[in-house]
Amino acid sequence: MKGEITINSQIATVPTETVSFELPTLEDGSAMWELVNNSTLDQNSAYKYIMMCEYFAETCVVAKENGKLVGFVTAFIPPKRQDVIFVWQVGVDPSQRGKGIASKLLNELINRKACENIRFVEATVTPSNKASQSLFRKLAREYNTKCSVSDLFTEDLFPSDDHEAELNFRVGPIQK
Ligand SMILES: CC(C)(COP(=O)(O)OP(=O)(O)OC[C@H]1O[C@@H](n2cnc3c(N)ncnc32)[C@H](O)[C@@H]1OP(=O)(O)O)[C@@H](O)C(=O)NCCC(=O)NCCS
Repeated sequence: MKGEITINSQIATVPTETVSFELPTLEDGSAMWELVNNSTLDQNSAYKYIMMCEYFAETCVVAKENGKLVGFVTAFIPPKRQDVIFVWQVGVDPSQRGKGIASKLLNELINRKACENIRFVEATVTPSNKASQSLFRKLAREYNTKCSVSDLFTEDLFPSDDHEAELNFRVGPIQK
């Protein structure tokens, strides 16, 4: 069921009343890894997700329906740029896409206590990933701010020929 709620003066779409947005636990790491394995996201070891759940839980969010993981965002604050939250990965189960879950994950993240000094949300996105580009452009619209795009990780940095460039999407400044 869809509806609208107000979060810090922002209107957000509620995908379903049964989806909760939570701090990840260590046990969520393997489900995050499985969701990634079934998506177009870059594959990483399960260890990486378990490690994020242990050391970066305050800047990661899991979306669950009836206890099952249906989406997540992993992020961290770069040590030298304390006003930035860098979104490493955001993924939603294919069966749950288009319901506003990714937008809600980002809003939950931005409004965490750990992000109280954040003014910019950054992420890298490949030129072909239109869904992800729409997600960050929508975030900028929601906060009535800019979304700038610049080169960051060029194709030549990757060890194989089959990795697209990763563009830097920077949303902000964000007023909360
Ligand atoms: C990108 C992703 C996380 C979006 O999740 P979602 O829950 O479906 O996104 P939302 O429902 O919150 O939609 C956010 C915006 O993106 C748009 N969008 C979502 N999927 C889209 C698609 N396939 N093509 C174009 N726009 C799309 C939505 O329409 C919405 O924008 P709008 O309100 O302006 O219309 C999801 O498609 C996914 O998991 N993709 C695979 C993993 C990935 O590429 N992650 C991002 C790279 S880190």
